[in-house]
Amino acid sequence: MNILILGSGGREHSLAWAIKQNPKCDRLICAPGNAGMDAIADCADLDILDGGEVRDFSVENAIDFVVIGPEAPLAAGVADKLRAAGILTFGPSKAAAALESSKAFTKAVCDASGAPTAAYAHFTDAAKARAYIRQQGAPIVVKADGLAAGKGVVVATVENEALAAIDDMFAGTYGSAGGEVVIEEFMEGEEVSLFVLCNGEHCLPIGSAQDHKRAYDGDLGPNTGGMGAYSPAPLLTPELEQQAMERIIRPTLAEMVRRGTPYQGVLYAGLMIKDGQCRLVEYNTRFGDPECQVLMMRLGAQVLDLLLACAEDRLAETRASWADDHAMTVVMAARGYPGDYAKGSEIHGLDTLPSTSMQEVFHAGTTTRDGQIVANGGRVLNVTARAASLQAAHDKVYQMIQAIDWPEGFWRKDIGWRAL
Ligand code: AMP
Ligand code: GLY
Repeated sequence: MNILILGSGGREHSLAWAIKQNPKCDRLICAPGNAGMDAIADCADLDILDGGEVRDFSVENAIDFVVIGPEAPLAAGVADKLRAAGILTFGPSKAAAALESSKAFTKAVCDASGAPTAAYAHFTDAAKARAYIRQQGAPIVVKADGLAAGKGVVVATVENEALAAIDDMFAGTYGSAGGEVVIEEFMEGEEVSLFVLCNGEHCLPIGSAQDHKRAYDGDLGPNTGGMGAYSPAPLLTPELEQQAMERIIRPTLAEMVRRGTPYQGVLYAGLMIKDGQCRLVEYNTRFGDPECQVLMMRLGAQVLDLLLACAEDRLAETRASWADDHAMTVVMAARGYPGDYAKGSEIHGLDTLPSTSMQEVFHAGTTTRDGQIVANGGRVLNVTARAASLQAAHDKVYQMIQAIDWPEGFWRKDIGWRAL
């Protein structure tokens, strides 16, 4: 079959890498893609937020299946446009993608379904939001309602920080994402991510992962899109996973069906674990980046079968098969990320690292200049390996990094510290 993947990050390179290994995949096109995807697929320069353009391209190129990587095209309704044209698509409708694109929507779904989550209040008026914060006190969490590229959440340890966040959000610091806010109870505990393929009320968990959000070692420094991940996350025991499925995921899916907006795609649940209980922190309506990279490395070629089973509503009869192993990815980022950073520095040594089913360097922000791989973004490479133990995967990844010659890059040296 002919397959189109939308996106240009490490997440999409890892999806392409796994899908490409499946004999069902005849032609693979990535849009817009990056240097890593360009090496294993054709890249097409499409505006992936323009559903009409993606649809027309898919028809012209006889695309049988479209996999949507990032949240922005989902929130823009690209999946709706494709499905309306009869094109098989992996990813939720615009209405169902509100589970990520609107925090207030997700909270309302939790209320209706009984899924445990932080207590909250929803405001469109800054003065009322401030009064509520003064009444509740700190710690407290302030969230811009809409998509804010992972930056719309302020976990305030003191009241003034929360009040300042309200000022920022209503002043438009987060664009249109800030005109509405959700203010939440601060939840204590440890965080873990669960990934579940869903179609209507059918669902299939495909693994857990732990991300590292802060830029620097010791979980210090500014928040980023994620600096490294591993899978599975030992914190999410089989019992806790079952609890999350029964109390959070299934009730959410049932409520989405009841509302007439069934969810189809991967549901990425951020969970807070404390005293053997899990509560929902947030949903994302796509794979995590870099969490996807470790899931893809563990699942391999079957990923295409799983995504097809999801899109074709065959999850009830589908199983994922797991090797009893561990995967880790470490993000190499451009110096300065997540603040200002330079583009265009050369990266050497990648060709000395073999690509196997056990190790791969997934590309994120890369491009080629005169045949040379150069950095073209903040997060640039995801050095990824799989092994019998997390320690062995860790050692392998850090050994791979030694072979990469990129003085303009930096990476965390302590990915996996919690589990190791
Ligand atoms: P979100 O974008 O909703 O994932 O929030 C970003 C991060 O803020 C989460 O990964 C948590 O670490 C933290 N966070 C969000 N909501 C809460 C909450 N109610 N209590 C504690 N931490 C939270
Ligand atoms: N790594 C966090 C995310 O993809 O949202």
